[in-house]
Formats: sequence, structure tokens, C-alpha cells
Amino acid sequence: MSTHDELEALRAEAPARIAAATSIDELSELETEVVGKRSPVASGRRSLGSVDPDQRRDLGRSINDIAIELGALIDARREELAGAEAAVALEADAVDVTLAGRRPRRGTHHIVQQVMDEVVDLFVAMGYTVATGPEAETEFYNFTALNFPYDHPTRLESDTLYLDYGDVPEEILLRTHTSPMQIRFMETHDPPVYLVVPGRVFRRDPVDSTHSPVFHQIEGLAVDADITFGDLKGTLAHFAREFLGPQTNVKFIPHYFPFTEPSAEMHVHYNGEWMELLGCGMVDPAVFEAVGYDPGAVTGFAFGMGADRLAMVRHGVTDLRHLFEPDIRILRQFR
Ligand code: PHE
Repeated sequence: MSTHDELEALRAEAPARIAAATSIDELSELETEVVGKRSPVASGRRSLGSVDPDQRRDLGRSINDIAIELGALIDARREELAGAEAAVALEADAVDVTLAGRRPRRGTHHIVQQVMDEVVDLFVAMGYTVATGPEAETEFYNFTALNFPYDHPTRLESDTLYLDYGDVPEEILLRTHTSPMQIRFMETHDPPVYLVVPGRVFRRDPVDSTHSPVFHQIEGLAVDADITFGDLKGTLAHFAREFLGPQTNVKFIPHYFPFTEPSAEMHVHYNGEWMELLGCGMVDPAVFEAVGYDPGAVTGFAFGMGADRLAMVRHGVTDLRHLFEPDIRILRQFR
């Protein structure tokens, strides 16, 4: 085939192929084939030098015409394809604003925290104030001001976790109960006092199904002109019935605490059995003296309960360790 025939063949068939290209990539390949370095157009141009001078002009012109013609067709098709590809991409990227959203998983408070909040709320409803205090305490607030004798066994290192604070006038320890807040609050507030204190406490206990070296208590203290043991019983029975149900029976069993006199444990009848729910008693006059209150002018009661135990009772958890093992699936059951 002469160069001229080849070019005419190209001119005849290329437009249909350009129009049929379905992607920009395909079109680019076609462009190389039709007007690229190895195309009949390029080889035609290269051959011009060896063509008879009288034919050279015509051949040169027709090569240029074909190159311009096909180039224009290719550019037009490329624009078409680019538009179509952009439309497809837009369609694919489109956000369907009518689809339902994906809701992020919601967290909740730990069940011990929930119980503490609930108990605190019950007492706030009866007019009590809420306060919290330090977990690292002095021996004075944790024991001495609460009328613990100096040789009381819970002061021993076998029961209490002491902190190494170096040279300090007094031992610093991790509080073993929330009762030191009775002292701190009465030192800074005049009677009457109606106080609840939720908080974390520490004892040197090995971990088992009912013990943990870290646990939670809610302390209560009521001090006023003539508070009686009847007030204690009525308040705590009301609490038990609010927390566990209106039919809940309670009983008070004599007990001993250094800072209350008389002291008692309140037991509740729950799930067919009697169980201990909290310690309580009338504030010992020695405690009033330690904070500068006149034991002849005021009386009061105090109580302390374990929040972890309340959470276990509430949710039927039989092993305390479930509450503090980092397996979120266990806690999720108790939302
Ligand atoms: N602090 C006591 C305990 O941890 C509980 C208690 C508090 C008892 C207040 C009487 C009054 O066991």
C-alpha cells in the first residue's frame, strides 16, 4: 500500500474507532496508534523527503489535514468521555442523605457508680448534702479522731495500706473507710449536719469472690439537736425500702464500732435470706469532742455501706471480681 493509500484507509476507518472508544485509556492507545510516532501519519511525514517534489506538497497537505481532522475528533471524544467518567464518579461518591445513620455505641456508668449515684440521690431527696474527701488520709482522720484506740488491730500494716511519704509528722495511709469524712466535715461545718459521702476505700485484703483491696462505700452522718436511734432506724429502713422494694423487711443487730455507741448492723430480708447491708450507730460523744461539738447539745447517727455489695445484690452478681475484671462484655449485661 502506498503511503497515500494507507493514509486514506486511516482517514476512512479511524473516526468510527474514535467514536467507539469507551474510556480515556482506550482512546489514548488509539491516539498513539493513529497520530503517534509509529502511526501512518508520522511515517508519512518522515517519507516526505524522498517523495517527488511535485507530489510532496499535496501529500504534505493531506497528512496535515488528516492529523488535524483525527486530532480534533480525538479531543472531542476525550472531552465526552471525561464528562461521562466524572458523572460516574460523582454518582459513586454521592452520599445518600436519606439513609438511616449509624448510631455510635453509647457508654454507661459502671454499675457500682450507678448504685452510688442512686443511693446518694435517695439521701439528697431527704435533705442530705454530698461531699467527697481524700483517699490518702492521715492516721488522725482515719483512726484517732474516730476513737480507735492506739492498739486497735486494724491500724496494723497487716490490715491497712500505709504510704511512704518520707519524713512526715504523721502516718499517711489509704483510707480504710469513708468515716474520716465525718470528722473533716464536722470540723468545717456547724451542726446541723446531714451528709452523705460516696468514695473509694482500701484494705489489705486478698482478692476473692467477696473481697477486693479497693472497694466503695457510702457514708452517712446526721447530727442535730435531738436525733435518736428511732431516727436512725426510720431513715435506714426507708432507704432499704426505696432501694430494694417497698416490702423489704429490716432488722438491727447489735455490733461494735469505735466511733458509734450503740452500734448496729442493719440486715435486710432479700431474695429469701437475711443479709447484712450496712454498719451504723449513734455518734460516740468522743467523736463530737474530737471535732469541737458539744456532746451535751447535739446527738447524731452515722452509717456506712458497701456500694459494690449493693451493686452485686441489685444485679444478682455472685462474684465481686466480675465487677473489676476488664471484660466489658460482663458489665454490658447490666446496663
Ligand atoms: N466505717 C464502718 C466500716 O467501714 C462503717 C460504719 C460507718 C459504721 C458509720 C458505723 C457508722 O465498716
